[in-house]
Amino acid sequence: MTTGSANSIKSMCVVGAGQMGIGIGLVAARVAKLNVQFVDSNPAQLEKGLGFLDKLLVKDVAKGRCTEDERSEVKSRISSVSSISEMNKVGFVVEAVSENVELKRKIFAELSEKLPSDTILATNTSSISITKIASAARKPENVIGMHFMNPVPVMRLVEIIPGLQTSKATLATTLDLAQKMGKVTTMSQDVPGFIANRLLMPYINEAIITLQEGIATKEDIDTTMKLGANNPMGPLTLADFIGLDTCLAIMKVLHSELGDSKYRPAVLLQKYVDAGWLGVKSGRGFYDYT
Ligand code: CAA
Repeated sequence: MTTGSANSIKSMCVVGAGQMGIGIGLVAARVAKLNVQFVDSNPAQLEKGLGFLDKLLVKDVAKGRCTEDERSEVKSRISSVSSISEMNKVGFVVEAVSENVELKRKIFAELSEKLPSDTILATNTSSISITKIASAARKPENVIGMHFMNPVPVMRLVEIIPGLQTSKATLATTLDLAQKMGKVTTMSQDVPGFIANRLLMPYINEAIITLQEGIATKEDIDTTMKLGANNPMGPLTLADFIGLDTCLAIMKVLHSELGDSKYRPAVLLQKYVDAGWLGVKSGRGFYDYT
């Protein structure tokens, strides 16, 4: 795989302070030692996200993985603002907002207006076309997919997805930066779901259909895959952990873009999302978290 240099990248902005954005920013600040600025227009989300980040750092000290001084140093590299217009001029941006193509395109257009033209704009989308997101930016050659896995501080993989317009230099710098963040990379063509979600989401969807058809209880579906296939979590627990709204959004992209009925989202998945049962983050999904 091509390697380039991310040495000139000293700072990163993360747009979206949800569970993915916070994890990405934490790893960038702690492992790659970048200055990290979070951008989120929702003050409650920002506060919750930064509180979670603090907790993870405190746990690192408690477990002897870093000293109190290192924790303060990481914290000093982290800041936040509530809009793109207030952002610092940085060398690298990772967008990690919800899976909504129009929202992402709007953000990429705004980032292009605000930032120097050589800033690399990465999207953490889990299924949307990088090429389509890139076409909203002033310099689509600087746009790339950088798909982290949840929980970002724990999972070692980042999928890298060049769009049709992505330059070799953007790809090389992004691969290098992912490595500096301590991650292993794989590379995928820009196709719906890339590698991870092309495989994972139909599996989760099928588990939901298995529940919907009354084939087994949720506990037995999860236990079968946890103990029978040595997965760390069963598929329904994993769906709750990822967020049922995210799972549904990804299945909808696979279904509409690939046009095959095998990707049709489970009726029960749609129902749960309609009810606001989104998994861990809403306190209820297939399981109760209250
Ligand atoms: N953020 C940061 N760290 C977290 C975390 C989170 N949200 N959740 C758990 N962790 C950490 C814990 O703090 C713990 O760290 P320490 O060892 O330092 O204490 C470590 O993970 C292990 O946690 P636990 O001991 O509490 O529990 P566990 O052994 O069951 O592990 C897990 C938890 C790592 C989440 C594990 O269950 C697992 O690997 N699950 C599968 C995760 C997975 O498949 N992720 C991919 C999802 S798909 C995706 O992300 C792509 C997409 O586009 C949808």
